[in-house]
Amino acid sequence: MKCFFVSDLHIDFYAPLTRTVSLLHRYFQEFFDRNFLPADVCCIAGDIANNYFTYVEFLKFIATKYSRVFVCLGNHDVICEREGVFGSDRDFPTSESKITFYLEEAAKIPNLHLLENLTVDVFAGCMGMCDFTYKHVPDASVEEYKIIWSTRWFDGRHWNYKGNDTEALWNHYAGIMDSLTAARPKVMMSHFLPMEFGMAEMYLKDPLSTYFYFQGEKFLSNLDDGSIWQAGHTHSAIKKVVRDSLGKNHLLLCNPVGYPDEEPYRENNLHREDFLLDI
Ligand SMILES: [Fe+2]
Ligand SMILES: [Fe+2]
Repeated sequence: MKCFFVSDLHIDFYAPLTRTVSLLHRYFQEFFDRNFLPADVCCIAGDIANNYFTYVEFLKFIATKYSRVFVCLGNHDVICEREGVFGSDRDFPTSESKITFYLEEAAKIPNLHLLENLTVDVFAGCMGMCDFTYKHVPDASVEEYKIIWSTRWFDGRHWNYKGNDTEALWNHYAGIMDSLTAARPKVMMSHFLPMEFGMAEMYLKDPLSTYFYFQGEKFLSNLDDGSIWQAGHTHSAIKKVVRDSLGKNHLLLCNPVGYPDEEPYRENNLHREDFLLDI
């Protein structure tokens, strides 16, 4: 089966905030033609939209383009919304309330699976979380990282998820990733990235880089040789094979669309065709 892997659509930066569905879908079609490729299956590793209406309409749209679609949540997808703010006409006071709503909406689309702690056939997924262990300088303070996350970082400011308790969030997703990978799916999807994806030179000394990554060896080594891990979040395309501590090889894929002023393929000289795979 041919599978196209993509992430970080941020489609509300490309389509207007309109409730006119036919107009919205016309923008989706142009976006689709520019960024997607035909396949049997499409996997989208999070960051579809900030806005709930755009998000749900895009799920309906993309489900008409492939036999099956697998999606995991991104950090932008779970932000809280307040009626009257940034054009929203609904309240999502907590991230949990938005996730519940998305799961209910996705369940109405038979060939689309929103993987949030879920395995369907050979595909497993969840959003994931950073573990704050990456240090941009050896003596960086994890406590300080967590304070900056809560007060200044996008997720800490816009989520209301498990009370934004960083320990609880990481423990929650670490447990989920452990149990999902222990069942040895062929494809594991998360939005946050295992450190094994690597970091571009320009981000190594950036204190904010810790908010993207977690140590992935424990989870990768649960998977079979030849498995695929798809992630998103960083807006630079990555395709590489890593060998875990048990000698098994895993293909790592990140194919973000990113924001309109970004060029995700430039750094590693990749193309969207690199993310169309026979699996
Ligand atoms: Fe993103
Ligand atoms: Fe993200």
